Order: sequence, then C-alpha cells, then structure tokens
Amino acid sequence: MPAERQPLIAGNWKMHQTLSEARALARNIRGELAPAARAEVALAPPYTALTAVYDEISSSPVRLAAQDAHWQKQGAFTGAISPVMLRDAGCRYVIVGHSERRQHFGETDATVNLKLKAVLDVGLCPILCVGETIEQRQAQVTLEVVTIQLRQGLAEITGLSGENLVIAYEPVWAIGTGLTATPDQAQEVHGVIRRLLAVMQIPAQDIRLLYGGSVTPENSAALLAQPDIDGALVGGASLKADSFLKIIAAAG
Ligand code: PGA
Repeated sequence: MPAERQPLIAGNWKMHQTLSEARALARNIRGELAPAARAEVALAPPYTALTAVYDEISSSPVRLAAQDAHWQKQGAFTGAISPVMLRDAGCRYVIVGHSERRQHFGETDATVNLKLKAVLDVGLCPILCVGETIEQRQAQVTLEVVTIQLRQGLAEITGLSGENLVIAYEPVWAIGTGLTATPDQAQEVHGVIRRLLAVMQIPAQDIRLLYGGSVTPENSAALLAQPDIDGALVGGASLKADSFLKIIAAAG
C-alpha cells in the first residue's frame, strides 16, 4: 500500500466479551501496542462495553468503533442505537453493512445507504462492508455484486474523502470459516473497488480498503503486502490480544 494511506487494523468483537473481559482485552491491546506501530488501531466492542473500552483507550491512539448504527438520530426505535449516541460514547468509526447484519437482520443496500448518510451526518467515519457469498463467487459474479453494493450503498452521498470513508471487502464465505481469500483474489477485488471509486468521483487513492475474512497472524502479512489492501477487519483473531497485536505488527 502507498505510504500516504495509513493502514487501519480494526477488531470486530461481534457478540463477545462481558464488561470485565472487554476492559481487560482493551487494556492488554493498548498496553502492548508498539509505540512505533504504523497502523491505526480500532476496537469495535458490543454496545454494552463501548464506554468501558473507551475509558481504557481514550488516552491512547487506539480508536473506538461501533458494530452498527440506526439511521435516525433519535425516536421510537426500540433496541436501536443512533449515531449521535455512538459519537457521544466516544466512537470514531461505525461498521455499516456487515454481512452478518445483511444475512440475519434484513439489512439491504437501501438501509446501508441510510445508515451511511446518518453516520456521516454526525461526523463519524463508516467502515462500509461489501462482499459476495460462495454461490456468487462460484457463479463468477463477485465483481458485479460488489459493484452494486458500493453503487447503491454510496448513492447520493457527496463529500467523501479518506478522512470519512473506509471500505472493507469481506467475502462472506471467508468470514469465521477459516477460509481466507488468497492475496491475489483479495487484491483483484480491491483493485476493482478502487477503480470503481474513481469512476464514482470519490478520491479513490485516499480511501482505505480493508480486507476481512479469517485474517490471522499467519496470513496477514501476505494480504497486507498487496498494493490495494490498506488494512484488515478482524473478527475471531481480534478476541485475543496476542493474535491481534501480531496482525497490527504485520502492517509495519
Ligand atoms: P473473522 O470475521 O475474522 O472471524 O472471519 C471478520 C469479520 O466478520 O469482520
């Protein structure tokens, strides 16, 4: 990746970690982070642990992220959390359109679009997730699927920059399965995403494109060495300080 794009390594804790576990994990990561680490680091704990994790990392360069947001600022939406609340809790990033949200919670490109607008509107930086299923890859429509997700997700949004947009390519078949896209497979899609962003008049060279899907200390260096892979969105391997720190170190 070019020197001007700072790598981002984000840990998606999903529905894991009690308060005491979350505090300890955040403290360990912050405490062991090499001062010279090149990567920016973000942690996305479950909502219940946002404040506890923020307390552990707020005086460090580690950033807080949320795993999802609603598209309204407030209102009668039982169970939902708004971007205003996430900003208030100390978040800098919000994951939007994760495949588990699309698969289990009815998220569509239309709701992803509303959420992106809402997150940007309060000054937070979305991490927009896109990626194909195994059936779509086998049918050789990966590039079309990702293109539609990006075009519809980012529809009618202006003013995007390297400061307010991160994109994560996460092949659904690689998430939590132990199957990883090869560096070449991932680079192919990342290259297409960057060219598409340029066509969409978005400053493509400034936008960080993360890879996600069974990233481990063993495979991270080869993935991160690809020219259009600017970081990683890490699930399982982010739940242990040791493996997450190794992935951060692999970013230089
Ligand atoms: P995984 O999850 O690293 O456990 O495959 C990645 C993600 O869902 O963001």
